[in-house]
Amino acid sequence: MTASGKIHGQWSSRLAFIIAASGSAIGLGNIWKFPYLLGENGGGAFVLVYLACVLGIGLPIMMAETLLGRRGRQNPINTMATLAGQAGASRIWRYAGWLGVLAGFLILSYYSVIAGWSMAYLFKMAGGFIDGASTETARQAFQELKDAPDRQLIWHTLFMGATVVIVSRGVSDGIEKVTRLMMPGLLLMLLLLDIHAVRTEGFAEGMSFLFKVDFDKLTGESLLIAMGQAFFSLGLGMGSIMVYGSYLPAHVSIARSSAIVAGLDTAVALLAGIAIFPVVFTHHLEPGMGPGLIFETLPLAFVQMPGGTLFGTVFFILAFFAAITSAIALIEPAVAWLSENAGLSRQRASAYAGSACWLLGVGTVLSFNRGSDLTLAGRNFFEFIDFLTADIMLPAGGLLVAIFAGWVMKREHSEEELEMGAWYCYWRPLIRYLAPAAVVIIFLHAMGLL
Ligand code: PHE
Repeated sequence: MTASGKIHGQWSSRLAFIIAASGSAIGLGNIWKFPYLLGENGGGAFVLVYLACVLGIGLPIMMAETLLGRRGRQNPINTMATLAGQAGASRIWRYAGWLGVLAGFLILSYYSVIAGWSMAYLFKMAGGFIDGASTETARQAFQELKDAPDRQLIWHTLFMGATVVIVSRGVSDGIEKVTRLMMPGLLLMLLLLDIHAVRTEGFAEGMSFLFKVDFDKLTGESLLIAMGQAFFSLGLGMGSIMVYGSYLPAHVSIARSSAIVAGLDTAVALLAGIAIFPVVFTHHLEPGMGPGLIFETLPLAFVQMPGGTLFGTVFFILAFFAAITSAIALIEPAVAWLSENAGLSRQRASAYAGSACWLLGVGTVLSFNRGSDLTLAGRNFFEFIDFLTADIMLPAGGLLVAIFAGWVMKREHSEEELEMGAWYCYWRPLIRYLAPAAVVIIFLHAMGLL
């Protein structure tokens, strides 16, 4: 059942949706961010809190976002406005859609820069830059890249360009085709790296870092970071899943598909940790380096190990595949809005959204060099956008989705859309009470108010 006759595209099957949504979820968040956040927040306890956030907050909200999207069948802004109308609620709810489109836009601006670093490293590794190089050369390479705005800009431009080209080809010809091709490759490459990690000397130490729970290392802020990461990694709270849900054919089980996507995303984050930390410990390196973990620390390990060029190249192809299949999901809400509301062709809509996002990304490029002194709330431009989106806008967007689906929307409507029979009575209290309360409590706790 659709709320509006305007169908703006559709996945060819349930599998196509699952692959595309996994492509959106599995990204730099799993390969780059989760490992470094884990390193900074002390390992095991962070993993545990993260898993609790995915299950208790993330999964029910993912189902809610998908169901809102499929019922509204438009871009997130119009979907929220239409569904609010149906529920007899204020059209103010469309601003929840706006919040999402804006968050996606802000995230993509820096995401493209970091993805550009991955591309730079992919070419470096494939070109044999670590063959016979010293650890000092590997260490300097990252600093040199960060110091060179022009080189970063070239990669940022290439990455954003590729994103725009794919998205402009449409839902089934662009997004679906690319994700179908890349996601299986990504999983294969990750397994290869994991098999290698299992055979390293530091495997036991890596596993104990990942899975040994020590709650002393956990602070109020790290709880917020774990929750923000759950939203970021699942791709929630910003309309991506809502817009992907809007292309979902009727009668596909939302609960089952969401569980598969959330499960795959979590598995890939853990498998990335298992691929990275044993290698880091084998070479006696520091896991808590921050955003430079995969660009600075990991290449130091690649330099020292046999087959480093091969493993390094595979690792950065993997990061690139993960990044591009997420970037298309980040820009899709804005593209869908521009083409449905501003009457632009898909090509134009993608080009405009991509260009604006590119421009904002220049701020991130500069925050690693010339503009590093410019700070907002004690953070440079990149850190500020990351904090604002992952730790504030995504949880806030997710909270609004939970309130809307749990309290504003009529029960019959969500029940009809979810088609999950008796299981519905498990989802309902999660979306009405547990998920919203957890988001609010973690917020207040991080602000020192609780
Ligand atoms: N989930 C993606 C990642 O982990 C990023 C993303 C966030 C994609 C929000 C879509 C929406 O890298």
